[in-house]
Amino acid sequence: MANFQPQWTNKAVVKPSSIVDSGAKFSFAKDAPGETFGKLEKPIPPSNPYTSLTDDEAEHFLVHGWLKVEGGFHQKYIDEWLPDFWIRTGYDEQDKTTWKEEYLHVAHHRQARNEEFCPKAWSKIVDLCGGEKRIHETRERWIGDNFIVNFGSEARSKEDPASHPPQDKSGFHSDNDWYRSFLDSSSTAMTIVHCFTDIPKNGGGTWLCEDSMKGVCEKLYAHPEGLDPVIDTPVLCKHAKDCHNFTAVEAKAGDTFILHGLLPHTNSFNYKHYARIITNPHVTLKEPYNLNRGRGDGDYSLLEQVILRALGRTSIPEYHPTRPRMFWYPRNSAFKLNKVDDELARLKADRASRGMPETTIDSVYLGGEEVMKDFIKRNGYDLPFNKDIGLELRQHVA
Ligand SMILES: [Fe+2]
Repeated sequence: MANFQPQWTNKAVVKPSSIVDSGAKFSFAKDAPGETFGKLEKPIPPSNPYTSLTDDEAEHFLVHGWLKVEGGFHQKYIDEWLPDFWIRTGYDEQDKTTWKEEYLHVAHHRQARNEEFCPKAWSKIVDLCGGEKRIHETRERWIGDNFIVNFGSEARSKEDPASHPPQDKSGFHSDNDWYRSFLDSSSTAMTIVHCFTDIPKNGGGTWLCEDSMKGVCEKLYAHPEGLDPVIDTPVLCKHAKDCHNFTAVEAKAGDTFILHGLLPHTNSFNYKHYARIITNPHVTLKEPYNLNRGRGDGDYSLLEQVILRALGRTSIPEYHPTRPRMFWYPRNSAFKLNKVDDELARLKADRASRGMPETTIDSVYLGGEEVMKDFIKRNGYDLPFNKDIGLELRQHVA
């Protein structure tokens, strides 16, 4: 097993947050220049035309905070990557009695560069970010087979979906387990959902909560000291329970959903008792968002415009983080990495049973020192541990 696996297994005691989600209205931007108020109704056109994004898609992303790209990635990755998924889990695709858990995250063995994996989705991602020059060169530039599978269950399939409205889900969040979150943080600039199976209605597609974006941005604005993972961030999406505008991902295999990194989302129940399989990579930018662009600062990206729109602003010159930016080892990786040894053992046993050499296993963990060095960098496993919050060693449930 790779030597970057966390050695400590006890979850640290998390200190209680000093942030209280009172539901009270924040005193919002009372000292801000009057001319910076105004709601973006339409996207601000870029200086240079988009390479792939249509005007309608730009407007959809601005208004809703997400975009669906049909056929966003290549079918060949579904064909090549899924067979090993079943071997890695020890579950039998044809025998639902072997599906021991309702919800399952697995680790990352195979990988493909974004441009090769999902050229159609990637070209739109680049446009939404304001050009490739703004995207981090290393972090999460490769897509992996770290699947998230929502199996449902026999019991779940007998329930009435209407009895579980999205407002009842307590797990709305944005993916921010590895950095101090500020209004202008672009570390998880996007959360991507690549759909490896069809996802029908009530089939466990991710819930997206569009009208909670405003509250998230207001809370981040009100806390320029930044919110730390687990300690402070739970307040960020709590107001989703009072929201009304929810969309559940429905898709054909090969479709991609692109979510603004601040868009609250959570899993939904799968009432169809089939294996709903997705991956959930991210896009990281090189620099924080610039929410006060002037002459010579380039165009506002659509990612920035979503934040401005949520706050009813055309720029936010008075916003400045008041504590250092902090970046840590990704806390939620630990429970997936703990599965790698078992998965490799099953893959080796499978190849042996078929008289095939181990070299037919495509896994970064068997790729040697150089491959592992790159893999560690791409996934932030070289960052320091945040000892105040520990590591997440339990997979969350459906
Ligand atoms: Fe998430």
